[in-house]
Amino acid sequence: MYESLKNRIISELEDIKKSGRYKNERQIESPQCTQIKTEQKKNVINFCANNYLGLAANKEIQNAAKETIDSHGFGLASVRFICGTQDIHKKLEREISDFLGTEDTILYAAAFDANGGLFEPLFDSRDAIVSDSLNHASLIDGIRLCKAERFRYKNNDMIDLEKQLKLTKSFRSRVIVTDGVFSMDGTIAQLDNIYKLAKKYNSLIFVDDCHATGFIGKNGRGTHEYNDVLGKVDIITGTLGKALGGGSGGFSSGKKEIIELLRQKSRPYLFSNTLAPSIVGASIKALELIKKDKSLIKKLKENTIYFRDQISNIGFEIKGKNHPIIPIMIYDDIKAKKIAEYLYENDIYVVSFSYPVVPKGLSRIRIQISSSHTKIEMDKALKLLKEAGLKFGILK
Ligand SMILES: Cc1ncc(COP(=O)(O)O)c(C=O)c1O
Repeated sequence: MYESLKNRIISELEDIKKSGRYKNERQIESPQCTQIKTEQKKNVINFCANNYLGLAANKEIQNAAKETIDSHGFGLASVRFICGTQDIHKKLEREISDFLGTEDTILYAAAFDANGGLFEPLFDSRDAIVSDSLNHASLIDGIRLCKAERFRYKNNDMIDLEKQLKLTKSFRSRVIVTDGVFSMDGTIAQLDNIYKLAKKYNSLIFVDDCHATGFIGKNGRGTHEYNDVLGKVDIITGTLGKALGGGSGGFSSGKKEIIELLRQKSRPYLFSNTLAPSIVGASIKALELIKKDKSLIKKLKENTIYFRDQISNIGFEIKGKNHPIIPIMIYDDIKAKKIAEYLYENDIYVVSFSYPVVPKGLSRIRIQISSSHTKIEMDKALKLLKEAGLKFGILK
């Protein structure tokens, strides 16, 4: 039976390899930090983790995880509504709501699940979903799982968004869905303008803030704080797997009736195991550190401005604004790959992105800055990027 499927898989894998889209996983043999040990290298400076606030190997967070194992055990072996809710799960939900300025929060095993389980309980064929064309795969999948009519607007394009909203007048509910930050571009969504349109066309707003929660905005609350629309976004989804310690887990946060209905009907919540206690305890600690000490957010902003300014001065074209995701545009798949390889040979870890992760012809090197990067580390990367830019004909 398996033989024909096996042959089909082998042939597909060969096609992926031939097209240059085969993804190899680099093995890291140390904790996730700005300097890591890999299978091939003793020490590489890491510019491609979502470790925005450097909390992935923070000792206080690690201790909180260990202490929570002692106080609450290793696992819960149950979904939330059977016997999988501990006091700490409720505490973390309250802490997230308090941090984001929302009414209530529901935890999921991942933000992918939060987005996957968000739309189907709330919307059906009587409703319209108006979605940014560059939204994350999990939003796209979540929207596909519900029967609402779909409308797509050009990335971050308010004229097109308004055009699409005009087409949705006859629907019972309409909801604008956007990433808070477009992770391939380092662009922050214009939630202030989106809010104006939502008000004009009587639409809800759902935002995926995975690349913002914890560090974007004055207090790190996210893109709603950055755009001065606190309290005006109906649902925010976020992850515990990036700035908030980088463990795993996700959440949806917002209007309390929506959260209550998600607890009743959202399939990834109802039919999946509870978040492990150690992750919950560690995430509570991560939020506590971020709330107490604004220096990490400040340092990340300083590092971001420094790197963005310097890389532009060198002569590279970059995308986005005010965000630690810094895409350096190369426009050539092979050159982008070679630049990443050259940097890795010289102990700097960056990743090149080409089609289909980004549109054809728009290949790039994506840098991710952390508050833990030192000026020495950033300067080494800048020097090597300049060398590589000259060597591969991107800079003159
Ligand atoms: C915008 C966005 N949404 C959702 C996710 C999924 O997050 P998680 O890793 O918690 O499933 C990611 C992670 O890559 C993301 O970048």
